[in-house]
Amino acid sequence: MKVHSLYFSATGTTAKVVGAIASAAAKTLAADVACHDVTPVTSRKGSLEFTGSDLVIFGVPVYIGRVPNLIKPWLETIKGGGAFGVPVVVYGNRAYDDALLELYDMMTACGFICTAAAAFVGEHSFSRTLGAGRPDAADLQAAASFGERVAHLREPLASSLPGRRPAQFYKALDDEGKPFDIRKAKPETDLSLCNGCGICVAVCPMGSISISEPSSVEGICIKCGACIKKCPSGAKRFTDPEYLRHLSILERDYTSGRKLPEFFF
Ligand SMILES: Cc1cc2nc3c(=O)[nH]c(=O)nc-3n(C[C@H](O)[C@H](O)[C@H](O)COP(=O)(O)O)c2cc1C
Ligand code: SF4
Ligand code: SF4
Repeated sequence: MKVHSLYFSATGTTAKVVGAIASAAAKTLAADVACHDVTPVTSRKGSLEFTGSDLVIFGVPVYIGRVPNLIKPWLETIKGGGAFGVPVVVYGNRAYDDALLELYDMMTACGFICTAAAAFVGEHSFSRTLGAGRPDAADLQAAASFGERVAHLREPLASSLPGRRPAQFYKALDDEGKPFDIRKAKPETDLSLCNGCGICVAVCPMGSISISEPSSVEGICIKCGACIKKCPSGAKRFTDPEYLRHLSILERDYTSGRKLPEFFF
């Protein structure tokens, strides 16, 4: 059996969870781990093929209650080939809504036999306080225990997963019941702090930041937070008033109350 960690992870929380599950599964099986990080825009050009002797731990962050839209076309090109699959979603301490069921359904449609599934909390992409520091040591210990258990599973998942079919987007509303519209928001750059290192250009999963002018977001921004959290100078932030209003309500309503990892077999 070969173990694969497969993930999209703009700010690194999903990568940590999937890595811990896959490492523990591989150790249990005395197998190697092949890592497929499909975050960089160039990594989603070719397809992946698996066989019945593979175990694939596949993790995505929850975006608006669902599997991130941007990876869906690529995800549908994967050939599961009867491989054992474990869908994992990581969410920012609000809710994972329909995302786990959606990922399970997509993997099943690609030809995986999904034997288990899990949802974990990661620090919210928009925030430093919402889900701060998650996944932490306790989360990663839980991920490792889950990995040891899934290493031996060969039967399809028996329990039903929470979520709706078809999956629906989460509608974020303000206190007056009006929806937030943050589609046009893009990060701003404080040029007095920017040293031109180009890290933001490299980490943008949409390839949207100009190589010649890193303060310019020329393509679509999905608000993934990578350029902000990975800028070594702290030069980037969102200033869009609608984005900031949405963020303050998220932090107000969901910061307290530690949500725990959930497992399904
Ligand atoms: C556009 C967008 C939408 C999000 N929607 C949700 C959500 O519906 N529920 C939630 O709890 N967290 C949500 N999050 C937070 C991420 O799921 C969470 O921070 C996750 O840990 C990020 O994973 P990463 O570090 O692998 O990028 C959202 C983040 C982004 C960028
Ligand atoms: S990562 Fe930060 S410092 Fe580096 S180019 Fe981008 S904005 Fe400037
Ligand atoms: S520009 Fe937008 S999509 Fe690109 S890394 Fe920054 S937040 Fe993510």
